[in-house]
Amino acid sequence: MCDVSEALLDWYDIHARSMPWRVMPADRKAGVRPDPYAVWLSEVMLQQTTVAAVRAYHSKFMALWPTVSDLAAAEDAEVMAAWAGLGYYARARNLLKCARAVVADHGGRFPQDHDALLKLPGIGPYTAAAVSAIAFDAPSTVLDGNVERVMARLHDDHTPLPAAKPVFMDYARRHTSHSRPGDYAQAVMDLGATICTPKSPACGICPLRPCCAAHAAGTQADLPKKTPK
Ligand code: ADE
Repeated sequence: MCDVSEALLDWYDIHARSMPWRVMPADRKAGVRPDPYAVWLSEVMLQQTTVAAVRAYHSKFMALWPTVSDLAAAEDAEVMAAWAGLGYYARARNLLKCARAVVADHGGRFPQDHDALLKLPGIGPYTAAAVSAIAFDAPSTVLDGNVERVMARLHDDHTPLPAAKPVFMDYARRHTSHSRPGDYAQAVMDLGATICTPKSPACGICPLRPCCAAHAAGTQADLPKKTPK
């Protein structure tokens, strides 16, 4: 019997990457709660951008605008200037729209509910799931490129992306921890980013190797499959 979520959480307890916005697993167990604003900001910045590049920008934004109300009150031009270099400027415009909607419609507090989060500007299914899981410990399931790769390999599923997305979402839902959903979401993304990498995955040190059907079949390097463009 192989319990993916238990194996992943045991690994994350030791190997979680430290990030300025992240509440580390020991602190979470001691009752420290993440700041939903800091989590949301990190998730918007991390879309199409690496953790390494995001660190400095996240710290700068938190220093300039420590709360969502501060950000909502900022001048558009100031925020665009602070964003310069991160690219994909639509994200910055949506960031401001979202901050203003949180203030106008939710009294300056991020809603906890996944569906209420989805209604906010710039928040799609991935970000709604990430914020509700990481900030509020709701049992929402995140599916980004890292998680897709982990699921394709765990299940040795050769269905090509993007058609495979709903199938991979179904696997991901089944593995989601209900006792520690916030840590689980971050653990599966960390695993995809550091061990279950696109090229040369580090199967020798992977906590999920005993659960991994692709490893058993030797197909991990071929997965996930993609429909040619
Ligand atoms: N990539 C995007 N969001 C992440 C998170 N919260 N943890 C690890 N990797 C991520």
